[in-house]
Amino acid sequence: ISGNYLLATILCLALSSALAADIMEGSYNVTQVCTMVKNGIQLGSIESCDYYYVCTKTGPVKTSCSSGYSYNYKTQNCMPSSQVECYYGLENPCAGKSGSNWVPNVNNCQGWFYCNGDKISGSGSCDPGQRFESASQRCIYGKCQVADSDALGPSLVNFCSVVPPNIYFGATDNCQTWYYCNSNGVQTSDNCKTSAFIVSTGECGYSNYPGACDRVVQAPVPTTCTQKGVQEPDPTVCGNYYICDGSSFELYECPLGTYYDVLKLKCINRQSAVPVTGCNRCQDAPSPFVNAVDAKLCNSYYYCRNGEMGTISKCGPDSFFNEQLQACADDTGLPAYVNANGACYGAKVPDSDETDEDSKETQ
Ligand SMILES: *[C@@H]1O[C@H](CO)[C@@H](O)[C@H](O)[C@H]1NC(C)=O
Repeated sequence: ISGNYLLATILCLALSSALAADIMEGSYNVTQVCTMVKNGIQLGSIESCDYYYVCTKTGPVKTSCSSGYSYNYKTQNCMPSSQVECYYGLENPCAGKSGSNWVPNVNNCQGWFYCNGDKISGSGSCDPGQRFESASQRCIYGKCQVADSDALGPSLVNFCSVVPPNIYFGATDNCQTWYYCNSNGVQTSDNCKTSAFIVSTGECGYSNYPGACDRVVQAPVPTTCTQKGVQEPDPTVCGNYYICDGSSFELYECPLGTYYDVLKLKCINRQSAVPVTGCNRCQDAPSPFVNAVDAKLCNSYYYCRNGEMGTISKCGPDSFFNEQLQACADDTGLPAYVNANGACYGAKVPDSDETDEDSKETQ
């Protein structure tokens, strides 16, 4: 009898929470995100690591992990807290950590804490124009989401911080749009060409089922970079670049020995690559002196110490810096050098020699 009573109580509780008003966590409308995924999918909370939401036909049902456990939305289960990358609602974001780690400040997308073991031993903020990325434990290019001014509390930056990876799910602003999160939390999105995205099957299709597009009510999470696929070089690291995933810039690293070429928009070998002006060419450099990125005279260079760039020096008049020779060389060799060395792409022998160039061309 007591078993039945317990069951009835559980059912009753489940039902009452399902019929309750929309569940909101700041600007994160849990009820709405549940309409975008199949029934049975669980959504993470952005207020606490202790509970999650099971999406049912009648809406989200809030469910708690046992004590000592935190919810891992990527694997859809509760796990011992020390094994879960979750920082919401924690008094000590370093709790359960060992070794050195940088962890996010969930109240400020630019902020981070440095953990020495399970203690906070430092904190700081990323430079303007950057935000902290937990997965890579570093600051990456990309703006923070501006919280919805009407919403109090946390804001959902990206569906991939609550929806599990490797499933297709729908949008609420367009019945044809679908989303997909990869295991690194990168969110991609596209449209079904001629049909609707059917949430119950997770595929594009035609459905006579009434209400297949009922979820469509309003614009979803606001975005910062909106054009998916747009690329940006990293302003300081020649071998890094960013790709817009539709809402924010994600960091990519070029393979060893290659730099991101700003003209070809891909990673190519260090010597030929045309990197962004100002980035550090000490990365993977085979010798200590390197060309600065210099599209004018190719005469600026610096010394590398442990991969750090030294102060920029300049070669004297009528000469350019030759990285292979580790020395300044006469400008007559500049055109050939420019062809093979992307750091000097666009550099020309200065004005006084222009007549020589012209006469060469007319020969
Ligand atoms: C939350 O989502 C539901 C379902 O899409 C919608 O009806 C409701 O208006 C939303 N609530 C808020 C406050 O945005």
